[in-house]
Amino acid sequence: MRIFSGIQPTGQKHLGNYVGAIRQYVEGQDRADAIYCIVDLHAITVPYEPGELRANVYDTTAVLLAAGLDPERCTLFRQGDLKEHTELCWLLSAVTAHGDLNRMHQFKEKSAGQRELVSAGLFLYPVLQAADVLAYRADEVPVGEDQRQHIELMRDIAQRFNERFGETLVVPRHRIPDVGGRIMDLQSPDTKMSTTLGSEQGTLYIRDPDKAMATKIMRAVTDSGSDVVRAPDKPGISNLIEVMSVFRGVGPEDVEQEFADAQYGDFKKAVADTVVEALAPIRDRYQELQVDRAGLEDVLRAGAERARSIASGTLADVRERMGVGPPD
Ligand code: TYM
Repeated sequence: MRIFSGIQPTGQKHLGNYVGAIRQYVEGQDRADAIYCIVDLHAITVPYEPGELRANVYDTTAVLLAAGLDPERCTLFRQGDLKEHTELCWLLSAVTAHGDLNRMHQFKEKSAGQRELVSAGLFLYPVLQAADVLAYRADEVPVGEDQRQHIELMRDIAQRFNERFGETLVVPRHRIPDVGGRIMDLQSPDTKMSTTLGSEQGTLYIRDPDKAMATKIMRAVTDSGSDVVRAPDKPGISNLIEVMSVFRGVGPEDVEQEFADAQYGDFKKAVADTVVEALAPIRDRYQELQVDRAGLEDVLRAGAERARSIASGTLADVRERMGVGPPD
């Protein structure tokens, strides 16, 4: 069994990334051959600063190691170290429908936010994401809810490739957590927590000091009423119940039961304590790791070598099947 997932080296990683994705990456190391990629080539599809991009790759690498990824038990690498991802992206574009790309929610959202240039790269983004996973013939892709449509598309691309050129690629499945797959902004709980779309006070960063984490949770927008229960008209409290459920390792109904007699304020205090207790050690380890750029570069370089040894085999098969380049 092989697991593959990718994360963008943009902005600071937040509670949503941790709960929806990073936690699953860590757990995946013990279940399967786990491969994780920091996707710098995806990050260039929107305006960015070249110098900052490099620094952000180290930053994200440090966060992942601090959260528990162990280079002895998984492969962690930078997408741009390999040529195979971009090459496979182009080859797969031959079996990708333009109309399908036009329907992607993320493209619609992100292109609406661009004032100067909507890049062709932003449009092709989901094909590169398909190439990331299909190059490793991965079975499972741990992601948050917002990536569901991209995983559906990569399944279609793999199936279309296999139908057209013969069984070559593995059709992967997503692994989206039932609880915590979509963590909401603490200030506007009807939008997802996000570095680009969310509010500063509503986004809890892994890098935040203890006090800022606690304040953001204590000031989280909650709903009218006073019962600690999940309900469609209580997105704020529902969000905090999910967060608590994940960090406590119990079901959301257990959280509701435990706090059945509590007021919102007491419940938020308990959530704040739990989140700080879980994230503070990760933040502290991150701060130690992120200063050692040479060490981080060594991890990425070794990961890229291992990744290449797998992806190059898939690329040789794909080129052969497609009749591209010289014969074997
Ligand atoms: P990215 O970098 O935006 O996010 C990384 C992971 O965090 C999850 N996530 C969330 N989960 C729960 N609640 C939230 N509020 C929240 N916000 C983000 C995302 O679902 C994601 O799993 N396109 C991808 C990167 C990518 C990729 C891949 C993923 C590139 N190639 C191949 C899987 C496989 C992205 O932009 O994730």
